[in-house]
Amino acid sequence: MTLVDHAAVRAAGSRTAERLNLLGTREPAVYGKDTLADVESLCRQEGAKLGVAIDCRQSNHEGQLIDWIHEAGRDHAAGKTIGVVFNAGAYTHTSIALHDAIKGADVPVIELHISNVHSRETFRHHSWLSPVARAVMAGFGVQGYALAIAGLVLLEG
Ligand code: DQA
Repeated sequence: MTLVDHAAVRAAGSRTAERLNLLGTREPAVYGKDTLADVESLCRQEGAKLGVAIDCRQSNHEGQLIDWIHEAGRDHAAGKTIGVVFNAGAYTHTSIALHDAIKGADVPVIELHISNVHSRETFRHHSWLSPVARAVMAGFGVQGYALAIAGLVLLEG
């Protein structure tokens, strides 16, 4: 999950969900060989390029992700955060709770997937997040995080 702040020190943040802590070793043919640390470094580099600060967080727990979305909503209302780049992993396809959290938090969220979920199994074609996301990005590999941060800054910065 990536938070993008809009205050004097503008910050972008990326939030990732379950199993993305296994990046680099989990199905490398689908998700690539970059680790979560590589992705966080990529996000920070992109943030530095765009002059925004990045807050990267990862959790395997749906409730934790909900709490972070709510926190991002409060930060957005306070003018501290422009939004979130969010890879919710498989929760994308199952979680009405995350849908409600994003809707309620009223913070711009870019839904991000490393793989092109639409070219994969049909159960990955439905997203509970897309209807409440500001934008959706899928299939660019881990580079998608940098593109999504740039996109969020373009849309909301
Ligand atoms: C994913 C796609 C999801 O379908 C899957 O469950 C993941 C990763 C992606 O980044 O491509 O955990 O969100």
